Amino acid sequence: MKEGRGGDGVGSSFSPSSYFSIDNQSSDIIKKIRSGEFKIAVYGLGHVGSSIASVWLRAGAHVIGVDKSPNVLENAKRGMTHIQEPGVNEAFTKGLDKSRFEIYEDAVKASQDSYFKMICVPVLADSGSADLASVKNVAGAIGKGLKEGDVVALNSTVPLGTTEDIILPIIEKESRILKRETDFYMIYNPERIYEGRAIEDIEKRYPAIISGAGPKSVEMGVKLYSMVFKKGVMAISNIRTAEMEKLLEGVYRDANIALANELAKFCEQVGVDFWEAREAANSQPFCHIHKAGVGVGGACIPTYPQFILDTADRIKVDCNITRLSRNINNSMPAYSVQQAIKLLHARKNIAGSIITLLGLAFRGGVSDTRLSPTYKVIEEFQKLKVKEIRVHDPLAKSDPFLLKEENVILTTNLNEALKDADLVMLVTDHPEYSNLTSSTIEAPVYDGRGMLDRSKFDHTKFAAIGIDDKIKTTTEYFP
Ligand SMILES: NC(=O)c1ccc[n+]([C@@H]2O[C@H](COP(=O)([O-])OP(=O)(O)OC[C@H]3O[C@@H](n4cnc5c(N)ncnc54)[C@H](O)[C@@H]3O)[C@@H](O)[C@H]2O)c1
Repeated sequence: MKEGRGGDGVGSSFSPSSYFSIDNQSSDIIKKIRSGEFKIAVYGLGHVGSSIASVWLRAGAHVIGVDKSPNVLENAKRGMTHIQEPGVNEAFTKGLDKSRFEIYEDAVKASQDSYFKMICVPVLADSGSADLASVKNVAGAIGKGLKEGDVVALNSTVPLGTTEDIILPIIEKESRILKRETDFYMIYNPERIYEGRAIEDIEKRYPAIISGAGPKSVEMGVKLYSMVFKKGVMAISNIRTAEMEKLLEGVYRDANIALANELAKFCEQVGVDFWEAREAANSQPFCHIHKAGVGVGGACIPTYPQFILDTADRIKVDCNITRLSRNINNSMPAYSVQQAIKLLHARKNIAGSIITLLGLAFRGGVSDTRLSPTYKVIEEFQKLKVKEIRVHDPLAKSDPFLLKEENVILTTNLNEALKDADLVMLVTDHPEYSNLTSSTIEAPVYDGRGMLDRSKFDHTKFAAIGIDDKIKTTTEYFP
């Protein structure tokens, strides 16, 4: 890997010269992909897979979408996805119209019929540790249908060693005779999309991270991914390092958020507005303090540190900051609920009250609820035996977990959610909430994302993470 390290120790590790750029017009393979002769199979049409399939469809390729969910398959056949990702439905529909998009349930046949196979199935388990069952299952099917000269790419985020020690042996075994590097190419390319702008991320924003089972696989990866990543391709010297790259991103963000949470709580105790101090601090180019909040959710940030910790425990290595960060972030829902109910104590008992939670999605602007902190907030209020919990979300319209809960309702109707509420807690930073004022919400409000305009609320009925209006005198903490 070429490397150009910044002199300041905190800047980018790579100079633009480390991005490979290949003249792909001359390549026969690329011509065959563009003509549809060499098909691309995308396994798992979820947030990542449907975006990847769309990008290849937009590049003119013939794509076979594979999924195990009948619902996902039915939707895809009608040119639709269950996820809200700009451009995906359009790409699917156009692909179907031009007979360049096929949907398969049969994972082995998809491998037989395709040249390039991309694995985009999940590894997420509720425990936060990795569940490799889906990835192994797909690897086996790909192996059974594998032909000489084919290319396989794993795009899921996985614990260190998964590609070489688990996935490659399965593919080779199931293929019976084919060997990595000599008979087929194996690429590990961690996908790095930000939900809600995934197509743009792949096509325009980030370089692809490419590693392979050997130099031939890396070269093939560089050629193929250069077709769709306009920012180019960053070749990594080995697969394990590329696996680590993606985990580093997750740990960095988790630890940064934990730091923000710790400092926000500190600011509350010393009468400082964390948000104002943060904005000023981040105007310095080496300071990038993330946002404090009710908790960290989603399929990525809470799980990747856990992959590192699981490996660290096995090899008996301390990863104290990673572990502490997880613990701090996991403690935020309970902490936020305790802060929020302080607003209620003066008025009435918590038991028997109606609580409104704003937001079920794990972050603003998306409908994805995986590992959302809202679930933990609900549990905390349930422990307090509240009468009813109303969850409002503009994008997450139904939820199988909440359906099972007796005193919890989910609604997209804000007025319905707020009616007669005793306490409102903002959990998700959906942009729709930023204009809320005390004229829309009569009940006390706890802003768990620090996004509301405090001046628009009566201060006796408003509190926010990182802010304490009861300014302490310095003598209280500076003897
Ligand atoms: N969501 C993100 O923002 C994001 C970003 C970067 C990387 N990732 C990683 O990408 C991977 C996929 O994540 P996702 O968010 O797309 O998951 P997802 O749950 O949205 O989609 C996964 C899809 O795979 C299908 N599937 C599961 N098992 C299957 C099997 N055995 N055969 C065929 N299909 C199967 C599911 O039905 C589902 O449609 C994960 O490793 C994740 O960590 C996710």
